[in-house]
Amino acid sequence: MRLPLSLVLLLLAHESVLALTPHKRHYSTHDYYVLEHHPNAGASLAECAQNLGVEVVGQAGELKDFWVVRTAKRNSQFDTRDTEDGVLRRYEELKTRAASSLTSRSEDALQSRRVASSVKYLARQELRKREKRAPPPILPGSPQNAESSESVAQRLHILDPEFPKQWHLVNNEYPQHMMNVTRLWEEGITGKGVITGLIDDGLDYNSDDLAENFWAEGSYDYNEHKDLPTPLLFDDHHGTRCAGQIAAAKNNVCGMGIAYESKVAGLRILSGPISDIDESAALNYGFQNTSIYSCSWGPPDNGKAMEGPNYLIQKAMVNGIVHGRNGKGSVFVFASGNGGRNGDQCNFDGYTNSIFSVTVASVDYRGLHPDYSEPCAANMVVAYSSGSGNHIVTTDVGKNKCAYTHGGTSAAAPNAAGVFALALSVRSDLTWRDIQHLCVRTAWLINPDDPDWEQTAVGRKYSYKYGYGSINGYEFVKAAQKWELVKPQGWIDMPIVQINGGTMDAFKTGSGGEMIDSDGVQSTMEVTQAMLQQNNFEKLEHITVKVWITHTRRGDVSVELTSPNGVKSILASKRFQDSSDEGFPGWTFMTVKHWDENPIGKWTLKVSDQDNDEEGYVLGWTMTLWGSVVDPAKAKEYVLPMLDHSLPPNKLEDKHSTDSSTSTTSSVASTKILPKPTVALPTDHGHAQGEASKPAFPEQTPTTTPVADVETSSTPNPTPDEGWFSDLGNLVTNQFWVFIAAGAVVAFGVSAGLFFWRRAVNRRKNYESLPAGDDMAMNSMGRRAGPGSRELYDAFGEVSDDDDADEHTGLRPNAPVNNPGLQYHSGFLDDDDPSTAAGITPRDQRYRDEPDHPATTPAPPSAVPATHADERPHSPTGSGESHDGSWEHASETR
Ligand SMILES: *[C@@H]1O[C@H](CO)[C@@H](O)[C@H](O)[C@H]1NC(C)=O
Ligand SMILES: *[C@@H]1O[C@H](CO)[C@@H](O)[C@H](O)[C@H]1NC(C)=O
Repeated sequence: MRLPLSLVLLLLAHESVLALTPHKRHYSTHDYYVLEHHPNAGASLAECAQNLGVEVVGQAGELKDFWVVRTAKRNSQFDTRDTEDGVLRRYEELKTRAASSLTSRSEDALQSRRVASSVKYLARQELRKREKRAPPPILPGSPQNAESSESVAQRLHILDPEFPKQWHLVNNEYPQHMMNVTRLWEEGITGKGVITGLIDDGLDYNSDDLAENFWAEGSYDYNEHKDLPTPLLFDDHHGTRCAGQIAAAKNNVCGMGIAYESKVAGLRILSGPISDIDESAALNYGFQNTSIYSCSWGPPDNGKAMEGPNYLIQKAMVNGIVHGRNGKGSVFVFASGNGGRNGDQCNFDGYTNSIFSVTVASVDYRGLHPDYSEPCAANMVVAYSSGSGNHIVTTDVGKNKCAYTHGGTSAAAPNAAGVFALALSVRSDLTWRDIQHLCVRTAWLINPDDPDWEQTAVGRKYSYKYGYGSINGYEFVKAAQKWELVKPQGWIDMPIVQINGGTMDAFKTGSGGEMIDSDGVQSTMEVTQAMLQQNNFEKLEHITVKVWITHTRRGDVSVELTSPNGVKSILASKRFQDSSDEGFPGWTFMTVKHWDENPIGKWTLKVSDQDNDEEGYVLGWTMTLWGSVVDPAKAKEYVLPMLDHSLPPNKLEDKHSTDSSTSTTSSVASTKILPKPTVALPTDHGHAQGEASKPAFPEQTPTTTPVADVETSSTPNPTPDEGWFSDLGNLVTNQFWVFIAAGAVVAFGVSAGLFFWRRAVNRRKNYESLPAGDDMAMNSMGRRAGPGSRELYDAFGEVSDDDDADEHTGLRPNAPVNNPGLQYHSGFLDDDDPSTAAGITPRDQRYRDEPDHPATTPAPPSAVPATHADERPHSPTGSGESHDGSWEHASETR
């Protein structure tokens, strides 16, 4: 039967047909968004989509209630009058209408309210590049006396030719400094049944050292959108090297992995631009089978950046620890960063200072602290890596190849991951927090005379350089075997203290607060027994501290938290490279130094600035205590609150409740490039100067006068019950507050409107300065040195100039494909390339950037046709600003 052409066209336009066609990512023709839908707030996903003028594509990765939606771009790339994002604008309008018509019962007002409260989060997706932390090539390590390695090899029948060079497994020169796992091997503990995912660049599953331990089903290439993480670029060897450290087979190729009978999966994200949704999907990929995710990348280690995972990515991490591994939680391992020589600190990196990740720094083969390894209060342990003349010897890309120049903190993280794999192979029931407890308890005290060691309240030693010490495989696994599982996680959200009426709006403009002078600003907060009881809280683990500080030179500011028992955590110390004037707009620090400490009593935050030529104000702060619950039956599931960096927060919800219908937010997703730690890793990292005699942070000029206590006289500490906006219930029962709250929502809407107007104006301005045409943008992309570095903690996730340039490259049609060696950015341009879609057997029903096959793309549960009338292209505003830490810089040759 032949259908008339017009009927075919009509059918093609119809939603049911759209739903069946492959939902490839067409960045040139569509804008993509991620939408968090509140299923019980009144409006169906279809109604929300319709009101926003978007089409539902499918679920976003493993995130429940998160949907990928899209809308066609209007073909007006050169229409400079029309650059606003129509979808986000409609969303803002809906929210404004909803807020301004609280009493109206008109259908329009009702619908606006329904939709506004059903869409919790809406962010445009952009492509960006992550940067790997691969070490630059240098000479092989110094020769080793192989004798005792040889005897181990003989006893265990090890034939791997480079095993004697793997000093991190058996250290002939400094036998007290090694991962200490060979005795476990003798006991048959080799990692069987455990899978580690390497979120990195490619993983050479054809290597004879990795082939038998490669788990294909848990692997995916998010750069090329193919099933296997094949290394394609000339510098695509980092993931392979890290995988070799964990699971290189016991055979006659190169050396051995720490857990040489465990499996590895490769999740390739660092070999090209990547969107937030793919990054978050990678963090949860195969997360019922994959136990550990080894992550050797992060924000630039240049000593200037202060960035972390945005809402979607944090959401994926929380999803991992709550739902991964059948509820025992994914174990995320992050390298602390290689910016030591730049004065960088891992508390300025939101991945490493997350409580959900184990942060691992480096120690070298002599047990010294290599100068590249970053200190901070979030460091949990150190593991062996390059320095003092030696590197990590591990598998390399190729059939039978070995790498001799691997190192940096990105090699420390996989060594720790290997030990965790050994532990999980004998105790698969350990939760993500048990792993952290075991780190704290079994880490080895190295260099006991190092002045950076300080006694904690419970008698352990902690150092910003070494965390709780070096991870010792034997001790860790032995302790794991008899470990009693910790009770579920609990937490106490302390009230938010506004100092001298300090406030910060959504544009990070502060007012009020207390000026920071050399005496410092000090503020205290009391934790009481009653709070512990109220919150079902038993024993302390991590503490997160959120601060609102303005400053004309952020690098001058230091921030410290002192416990009731007098234990001090340095959260931020001076960073000589950091001349940002953005301050700390709702930035969250983390410390593990108070683990197991009794938290009852007065906690003191001190913010100081010894260089008085620049100025700043402390506006407010709060902290959250994390630990275990008293009564497991009353444990709650942690739900990530909306990211809100205003002071006081705009959101009117309980921090950890999803029930509020007012907790909506929108943003333009950030586009940025996270560098590999090796971007900042000095090329001579293998010969990094080690030391064990210096404090982690540069000397502070001692203050001569006692610190003034300026705090609570003007702004009393509320208890959690009466804290500002701390309890939505109070608002609902209090009419006065409802009135104020409504006003706040209106004000928010108006400011959001202003924001978009401002942005539109800026874009117009910038756009005109750019020659029109995609080739220009592509060229500028090629030259661009690196990432935008501000946007992650931007309250609105405002698109930075660089980001737009990134996006713009995505607009370029007919870009070369399948030539990655020549074309860095080809990976995300091949939406239309038939070869990407051909012959791939999809395994995953979830949405990916480029679902492979029509049949596997879940039909949108309630797809509505996109309304295209209002679509505006995401137009470039790129200024081509150059940053350190470029992905290209990381592309070292061998
Ligand atoms: C390494 O493990 C052994 C057990 O094989 C233990 O006796 C020894 O103390 C450990 N060495 C270090 C440096 O921790
Ligand atoms: C992955 O998990 C499923 C369900 O627990 C199990 O049936 C399967 O064997 C696992 N696969 C691997 C490779 O461990």
